[in-house]
Amino acid sequence: MLEEKPLLATVLGKTQKRPPVWIMRQAGRYLPEYREVRAKVGDFLELCYSPELAAEVTLQPLRRFDLDAAIIFSDILVVPDALGQKVRFEAGEGPLLEPLGGEAIASLQPEKALERLAPIFETLGRVKSKLPPEKTLIGFCGSPWTVATYMIGGRGSDDQAAARLFALREPQAFAALIDVLVETSIGYLAAQLDAGADVVQLFESWALNLDETDFAARVIEPNRRIVEGLRRLVPDAPVIGFPRGAAGMIGRYAEVTQVNMLGLDYAMPLQFAREALPVRLGVQGNLDPLRLVVGGRQMEDRVHEIVAAFEDRPHVFNLGHGIVPETPIGHVARLVEIVKNG
Ligand code: CP3
Repeated sequence: MLEEKPLLATVLGKTQKRPPVWIMRQAGRYLPEYREVRAKVGDFLELCYSPELAAEVTLQPLRRFDLDAAIIFSDILVVPDALGQKVRFEAGEGPLLEPLGGEAIASLQPEKALERLAPIFETLGRVKSKLPPEKTLIGFCGSPWTVATYMIGGRGSDDQAAARLFALREPQAFAALIDVLVETSIGYLAAQLDAGADVVQLFESWALNLDETDFAARVIEPNRRIVEGLRRLVPDAPVIGFPRGAAGMIGRYAEVTQVNMLGLDYAMPLQFAREALPVRLGVQGNLDPLRLVVGGRQMEDRVHEIVAAFEDRPHVFNLGHGIVPETPIGHVARLVEIVKNG
């Protein structure tokens, strides 16, 4: 089984001659076939909750490129939605949620969440049945702090000030929200593994902007609780942690959370990561997505640098954050080719 899936084997600790590759947000608007499916549904979340369409867009990037993994098509914000906080997506605005106050936290509905997320498990089953055996299927959720920034602020922001102020002013209500997210995420990830995911990734996209005390309390500790709780339900569950912006805290995040592999953002210096993380521990990353937009020599040089920096350890090639809509498809094809063939 392991021999069959190079990316899963790498997450579990195998060093390969060439790194397996997938691309964060690999299904999406840079693909015309995605835009075509997207135009058939109204709200973006409707696409996430339509197993047939979601399975189709999950598989689209693998038809074009020799990627080693599919990531289930969904969003980190299906969790607040399933907890009963209304989420919508406006074109050009990103996600919009009814901001959550202290009282509303008590009326979230964790007991209903997994039932409401059933379409996502169905999507996983559909993808699994169509995926070639050598491809790894990745499930995911947002990490509690990142999801909480959207739930409290009601939208994305550059500094997450609403959530940071709330956590400092109302520590008890904030802790109650994190507890709900930790418990819901454990059940959600276990159900994804049960439905066919081989690996799960924790997207902590807004781990930047926290001082070391808050990083330990809001990022490391909830991620640790999820990994521990998940492995109680699914022993040895393979987990990739992506604490974007962890910077100097990356080593502590790895050690305390016990994830199998660290997703590195593009601001992470390669030499620093090599020194901060033990050589047995896998890394994933970390090309700047804008290098992929521009392509050519600058991109290729950086790809070779990243591959060389991590050739002595388990390494999955990826971007340091999600691919952006303006990325030319030919650049993605070239990227995958040079990662695989040098
Ligand atoms: O291919 C894949 O990676 C699977 C699908 C996936 C999506 N979102 C689809 C999506 C995944 C793994 C995510 C994760 C996600 N969602 C994150 C963490 C990763 C990251 O980029 O930091 C975050 C922060 C979100 C929340 C979110 N969803 C935002 C802020 C937005 C709007 C901004 C944007 O990129 O448009 C979304 C919408 C979204 N999620 C789209 C897609 C394809 C675009 C919406 C559309 O097609 O109409």
